[in-house]
Amino acid sequence: MLTLGIETSCDETSVAVVEDGRRVLSNVIHSQVDVHREFGGVVPELAARDHLKRLPQLLELALEKANVQPADLDQLAVTRGPGLVGCLLVGVGVAEGLAVAWGKPLTGANHLWGHIYAAMLGRPDLEPPLLGLVVSGAHSDLVRMPAHGRFEVIGRTRDDAAGEAFDKAARMLGLGFPGGPALDRLARQGDPGRQPLPKPSLPGLEYSFSGVKTALLYRLRDLGESVTEQDRADLAASFEQSVVESLLEKLDHALELAPVTEVVVAGGVAANTLLRRRAAEVVGTRARLTMPALELCTDNAAMIAAAGYYGGRFPAEVDPSLSW
Ligand code: KG4
Ligand code: ZN
Repeated sequence: MLTLGIETSCDETSVAVVEDGRRVLSNVIHSQVDVHREFGGVVPELAARDHLKRLPQLLELALEKANVQPADLDQLAVTRGPGLVGCLLVGVGVAEGLAVAWGKPLTGANHLWGHIYAAMLGRPDLEPPLLGLVVSGAHSDLVRMPAHGRFEVIGRTRDDAAGEAFDKAARMLGLGFPGGPALDRLARQGDPGRQPLPKPSLPGLEYSFSGVKTALLYRLRDLGESVTEQDRADLAASFEQSVVESLLEKLDHALELAPVTEVVVAGGVAANTLLRRRAAEVVGTRARLTMPALELCTDNAAMIAAAGYYGGRFPAEVDPSLSW
């Protein structure tokens, strides 16, 4: 069964062909960082236009790399949300047109489920039930997935998402866009012990990153003109440590509350070096931890094809209120 996936929810345009929801035959991704860099963040209007501009070429490339013809496809899947509405409309509109032209069924896919399904692309034997942590630019969600297509959010953030916090901290540290990967690189040169920042501590399974963000802002203000390159690296390392340890503390708690044998940590922030290392240590031998390969952590269409294959059928229409 061949699924063509289309992803346009934010600033990556991507088209993929996936076999039986697991085997990636192609996954072409075009990042719009060059479009948004000068603005220091994603400009929705420009993002939507660029998706429309890139999709025809990416579509051709994805089919060519997978060595399949449109007639070989069994179904199409497109991200219906959550995401930037204008961007989602482009993906859904193009997918609808293709589905009609090719006479293929089309399903809408939840982007956040997609991040979890990305973990299954590398592990053919990975099946629910599982505990998931989805950490992206817009979400920090702890979820239980009892079966395919069934997700229950058991914890989320009260304010910023982890990726958003990394991006804002990166801006404060004078790093360019996109901030998360740049902060990750700078943190590798730093020592978190030299500039300690508070670790968020909320009850239960909730997250909050605004406190540590403010602490970073005040520390930088106190350092003022005297801030050195080493201070910046130490602060990056400290900020990263606070966010990562907070994310994992709740994951650990959720695992204690209801043990499972499979844990997935996914989403753009799952590309973070410290998170990858510490997640393995925290989960330990209690469960098997799967984190998608780096290129499958950030937005891509292979995960949307997988979510379309396994996640059940949903209308291919943009749902601006879509959360989980
Ligand atoms: O999942 P994703 O590609 O897009 C959304 O669905 O939001 O996640 C993007 C987020 C951005 O906030 C980006 O800064 C963050 O993931 N990110 C990272 C790293 N790579 C990407 N954050 C920390 N360390 C990284 N290495
Ligand atoms: Zn995403």
